[in-house]
Amino acid sequence: MMHFLSLLDFSRDIIYKIITYTENIKGGSINVEGILEGKIMGMIFEKPSTRTRVSFEVAMKQLGGDAIYLPTSTLQLSRGESLKDTAKVLSRYLDILMARVYKHETLEELAKYSDIPVINGLSDLEHPVQIVSDFYTIYEYFGKLHRIKISYVGDGNNNVARSLAIGCALLGIDLAMASPREYTISESFLRELFNRIPGSEKYISIYQDPYDAVVGADVIYTDTFISMGMESETEERLRIFLPKYQVTMDLLNSTGKDTVFMHCLPAHRGHEVTDEVIDSENSIVYDQAENRLHTQKTIILYLLGYL
Ligand code: CP
Ligand code: NVA
Repeated sequence: MMHFLSLLDFSRDIIYKIITYTENIKGGSINVEGILEGKIMGMIFEKPSTRTRVSFEVAMKQLGGDAIYLPTSTLQLSRGESLKDTAKVLSRYLDILMARVYKHETLEELAKYSDIPVINGLSDLEHPVQIVSDFYTIYEYFGKLHRIKISYVGDGNNNVARSLAIGCALLGIDLAMASPREYTISESFLRELFNRIPGSEKYISIYQDPYDAVVGADVIYTDTFISMGMESETEERLRIFLPKYQVTMDLLNSTGKDTVFMHCLPAHRGHEVTDEVIDSENSIVYDQAENRLHTQKTIILYLLGYL
């Protein structure tokens, strides 16, 4: 029995396996319809969600199972019941649990006492299901993952950026990150990552100027400047990030390549990206969102031991 709390829980081989299965499931050459008949996923949400909630729920239903949406405000957790008791009780009803939480430790505590696999549907630390799916989207678009350069422009210290860095380190994908000094991916996080995956330091480079980071980029990736839970810092963050870290047509056209634009969504149009870029022919954000559904199926099947 395994949990999926961090992208580090998956090896390079597992990620490739998930990408290959997702391609076959999406393409219809593997039929998984009805395979999870009678299996139920619980989905704990401390924060809002459109893609993660709906893609997991639809994935479970299309696989023949079902999912129960459990916003924390409706659980006894909100009245002080412990995570331990919650995890132990939910394990008696459910087959798999997904949780979107503020503190990563909440997931670790749930996983510690859970007898069923726990999936991180986003925490303050990581968003691993997003990045596995994004790697599938890049593979689908380019037909490969090796020799792809991803340039991430924006908040380098958030959940999406960290999972992206882990994924690139694991798979050996070039990642150039451009962030303001105050929001650069933390040195201690990178040091630990490079220790964990020897040789991975050559894949990750850090910049302050987005124009330096995007040279030769196949993908420009961004995310919100203000992640959920950071709303009180809005004014300060916008002052620091804008206008320099906004993905504009000028930045997209400066790479020297035909570069695609990616964003995990939700986008804050006019902040981290302009309408022109996100609505351009180079934007693959809706394919990216769709692929969450196909990838969730494979992740669930993998964690339940079907692959
Ligand atoms: N990208 C993502 O996780 O979107 P939601 O917040 O809508 O789930
Ligand atoms: N970094 C964003 C991702 C949203 C899917 C956040 O945490 O709000």
